[in-house]
Amino acid sequence: MTAPLGIKACLFDAYGTLFDVSAAARALATDIGPQWQPLADTWRAKQLNYSWLRSLMGAHVDFWQVTADALDYALDAHGLSRPDMRQRLLDLYFNLACYPEVPAMLRQLKTAGLVTGILSNGAPAMLEAACRSAGIADLIDHLISVEEVGIYKPDPRIYRLAMERLVLPAPAIAFHSSNGWDIHAGKRAGFFAIWINRSDQPAERLPNPPDVVLHNLSDVPAVLGVAV
Ligand code: LAC
Repeated sequence: MTAPLGIKACLFDAYGTLFDVSAAARALATDIGPQWQPLADTWRAKQLNYSWLRSLMGAHVDFWQVTADALDYALDAHGLSRPDMRQRLLDLYFNLACYPEVPAMLRQLKTAGLVTGILSNGAPAMLEAACRSAGIADLIDHLISVEEVGIYKPDPRIYRLAMERLVLPAPAIAFHSSNGWDIHAGKRAGFFAIWINRSDQPAERLPNPPDVVLHNLSDVPAVLGVAV
């Protein structure tokens, strides 16, 4: 499927969509051993759980704190609680790599004159550092963090914040997320929604399914009709 005419901006979720959330634990795989992937999975699952729970509890702290708390839980759960390991994993998470197809894909969108942005739970300092370490800072026009609102996705205010910051109506924005629940929320907000289903997850049983499903970001320029 190709996108409807009139898309002016491409908005991306950060963690899991542009940035590889398993990269930190993978980089220490030799030290951690075969537990590195279960550790990465528990860390990510708890990070999201804590973001939702804190939103429901009205107990917001920024995503860096949530990420550190989730790591402490995950290290504990897998019997890996070592202070040196904790600090190295956090340093690696702050400076994450992006998925390999990301820079070329963003370059095609920019060449076609599209505006680019990130809409993320990430605190501004985390997003700036990850864009720098991934080498994509020059390819992203807008960094939009939930910290401006003080609640996490999928609160509808977060998606409205993106429209305000981009000064565009929802149908002019293509939203991309690897998180099924995030893409349903983006579709509900009115975006043209592209689910980047990197790990072949089943469809979420939630309202407002995405318009397009891709395995990674490589085909985004083609879907948007700007592939070179
Ligand atoms: C984010 C999380 C949901 O970047 O991945 O907002």
